[in-house]
Amino acid sequence: MTSTDIYILAIESSCDDTGAAVLCNGKVLSNVVANQEIHTKYGGVVPELASRAHQQNIVPVVHQALAQANIDKNQLNAIAFTQGPGLMGSLLVGTSFAKAFAQGLNIPLLAVNHMHAHILAHFIDDDLQTKPEFPFLAMTISGGHTQIVKVESYFNMTVIGETIDDAIGEAFDKSAKILGLPYPGGPLIDKKATLGNPKAFEFPKPKAPDLNFSFSGLKTAVLYFVQKKLKENPNFIEENINDVCASLQHTIIGIVIDKLKKATKTTGIKRIAIGGGVSANSGIRKALLDGEQKYGWTTYIPKFEYTTDNAAMIGIVGYLKYLEKDFSNEQTTANARFKI
Ligand code: KG4
Ligand code: ZN
Repeated sequence: MTSTDIYILAIESSCDDTGAAVLCNGKVLSNVVANQEIHTKYGGVVPELASRAHQQNIVPVVHQALAQANIDKNQLNAIAFTQGPGLMGSLLVGTSFAKAFAQGLNIPLLAVNHMHAHILAHFIDDDLQTKPEFPFLAMTISGGHTQIVKVESYFNMTVIGETIDDAIGEAFDKSAKILGLPYPGGPLIDKKATLGNPKAFEFPKPKAPDLNFSFSGLKTAVLYFVQKKLKENPNFIEENINDVCASLQHTIIGIVIDKLKKATKTTGIKRIAIGGGVSANSGIRKALLDGEQKYGWTTYIPKFEYTTDNAAMIGIVGYLKYLEKDFSNEQTTANARFKI
């Protein structure tokens, strides 16, 4: 520990996970996440319940992050928080907390774009991660976002493709719901897919222009397919769940890889970094690694805990902004539609 060490407390509350992390010079000292179980029984995130749960969780989560990092709040140099995009009620809890805490400690406030954070999570100092070289393509895939971003430097990035309807995580979660699986269904589909035949059934690949994505048609196709099969055999789901999951996952992987091939071709950039909850998917990870051999890609897959929504990724962006002295003022507000 030296006097030049920069300690940042980061807060994440954009959706249904309440996160707090402490970073020292870009290294994670603690990274605490409280997941909100309440949404499981509703089959998706209920915004009103999410904000209430954030309000309950935020103080204990921050206490835990400081305790795990073995840091006293008076040692902090700045507070970073997720300004957006996300659910307004959820963002307001983190934003208000961060502003009040920074005021109370008389230290600067750092407003962070959640999508920057998913991308810059690759720059967290961690022996198990490799930092991508600029320029690179970042694909952020989660329950709320699906984007391909051209990243030229830490804060110079351009969205070159995104979903025109549902996010990729919704395609997983909504299809899972149709199959009677609990929320969030993505990890369950992934697990069952490993036991099934990816060629058993065929689902249509939606046609979105350029580098954009479309997933709402796939969910509808799964619904009609399951309804039809159930008419023929009421036990269809139980008897074929692994094959349906494998085939669906195979289709989604195909969509992702096709777009990445197109993106590398149009930009000439072959370095690909992924982020967001869906990048935990074992099939997508494998397909990306296969791309190294097949297409000459260099791929960067973050450590699992920096992949789903977490505060450590907010902290690294906060740290980079701190070095630039890019502080936000006391009138900063949450921005549910904050663009990259
Ligand atoms: O990044 P994240 O934690 O929160 C959002 O910002 O949405 O991502 C959550 C999403 C959910 O849709 C979940 O089903 C999906 O990530 N997910 C997965 C897997 N693990 C999480 N989808 C497919 N395969 C997985 N292994
Ligand atoms: Zn996210």
